[in-house]
Amino acid sequence: MSRLTAVILAAGLGTRMKSALPKVLHPIAGRPLLHYAVRAAFEAGVERAVVVTSGHPQIDELLSREFGERVSTVTQDPPRGTGDAARVGIERVQTERVLILCGDTPLVRAEELARLVSVLEQPGAQELSLMTCALDNPHGYGRILRDSAGRVTEVREQRDLNGAEQHALREVNAGMYAGKTEVLRRALAQIEPNNSQGEYYLTDVIALVARSSQVTGMLGHADSLLGVNDRAQLAEAEEIMLRRIRLRHAKNGVTMRGVPRIDDSVEIGEDSVIEGTAVLRGRTRIGKRCTIDAGCVVEDSTVGDGVLLKPYTVVSSSSVGDGAQLGPFTHLRPQSDIEAEVHLGNFVETKNTRVRRGAKANHLAYLGDGDIGERANVGAGTIFCNYDGFNKHKTVIGADAFIGSDSQLVAPITIGRGAYVASGTTVVTDVPDDALALGRIKQENKLGYAPKLKARFAAIKAAAKKP
Ligand code: UD1
Ligand code: CA
Repeated sequence: MSRLTAVILAAGLGTRMKSALPKVLHPIAGRPLLHYAVRAAFEAGVERAVVVTSGHPQIDELLSREFGERVSTVTQDPPRGTGDAARVGIERVQTERVLILCGDTPLVRAEELARLVSVLEQPGAQELSLMTCALDNPHGYGRILRDSAGRVTEVREQRDLNGAEQHALREVNAGMYAGKTEVLRRALAQIEPNNSQGEYYLTDVIALVARSSQVTGMLGHADSLLGVNDRAQLAEAEEIMLRRIRLRHAKNGVTMRGVPRIDDSVEIGEDSVIEGTAVLRGRTRIGKRCTIDAGCVVEDSTVGDGVLLKPYTVVSSSSVGDGAQLGPFTHLRPQSDIEAEVHLGNFVETKNTRVRRGAKANHLAYLGDGDIGERANVGAGTIFCNYDGFNKHKTVIGADAFIGSDSQLVAPITIGRGAYVASGTTVVTDVPDDALALGRIKQENKLGYAPKLKARFAAIKAAAKKP
């Protein structure tokens, strides 16, 4: 196959989105619309892509971050139609062949684009191919006109259709084209804005090329052309994309019960089970044999093998080691490093904390800016007092230490290996290895005093009730 460049049309704001964000940057399944079109082009074998924009710097940033130097942008100002955009883009093309597509059609499949390009290689000196779709409701799309021999002669826009027969045509233009660069360049130089919109129509090149050579219309999947012009179509495209993502995981050995929401960038290992209301976002990797139960939200995080996330566990920008068990209602805030076999239970919150292998904190705790040793046990109600109102400080707990319930560890503080903090202690000085820290007010027992106390309280209550 000879070399190929993609021209991707993405200029204009997309006014129907009613948004300050350029249309092609709106995300579906965790990635901007434009990402999908560019990725499909590369997967179909293009070497480089030229994206035509209205000069939004955010688009340049996105493209260079995700695709590097293989993608360049060129500004079309003002936007005067798809034909004008294609002309601006094709000026930058140096390969013999070009693939043209739109930035707002994220559901296009790479295999289809590759097939569209391979049409050019068929015998008969093919110069241009375009993808078509058969739709029950073709309204709004350009229609494919064919001659009696079935050859494509023209694409006519909805607004410019003539008569009931043309309105009834169900084969529409998907807006994706492959062709010889020189042929397209020449045709684009000839088109005129003489239509109801006063725009340069890229589709006008079809009739021009069809006069002297054969144009092939290749039928693609009906959902491939879904273009996003407003928020309703954004939601529709996202639903289709999410369904495709679930299917991909199902084929890879992941059980999904009901409909979890999984972003495009998420990876999941074999034999993991994802419950219906779970949400997996961003750069998240889930290992093998995990259970991600109802209501969990995992974002930009790495989860090892055999991990159990019980219901409503929230994990953000953190890592969880093999065999760990979290939840229900555990909250890992960013930079939590939870090692293998750790157990964290209800209402335990961590932030920027390392919990080493086999340590446990099963109930109600705030563990911020800490380092908890292997097999240490942190009791219910423990608070790492990490913030003094000005700075954050670190709490270090040695291996096999025991922190009794309702203790406050005032950071910076170090609890030695094997040390024991008695329940209810406010720890303000470091505890050496194997020491017992006990910091309570001395308790006093007044023998026989309870009945007298109760009688006194009862009398007060009775007095209060009298009018
Ligand atoms: C276009 C086709 C139509 C086809 C449909 C498929 C034309 C004239 N019509 O119509 O036959 O059925 O796509 O979705 O081509 N753009 C620019 N600069 C411009 C105008 C548009 O870059 O000056 C870009 C847009 O960002 C968009 C793409 O081109 O990504 C398509 O433009 P749009 O106005 O949405 O074309 P449609 O009316 O959908
Ligand atoms: Ca469109």
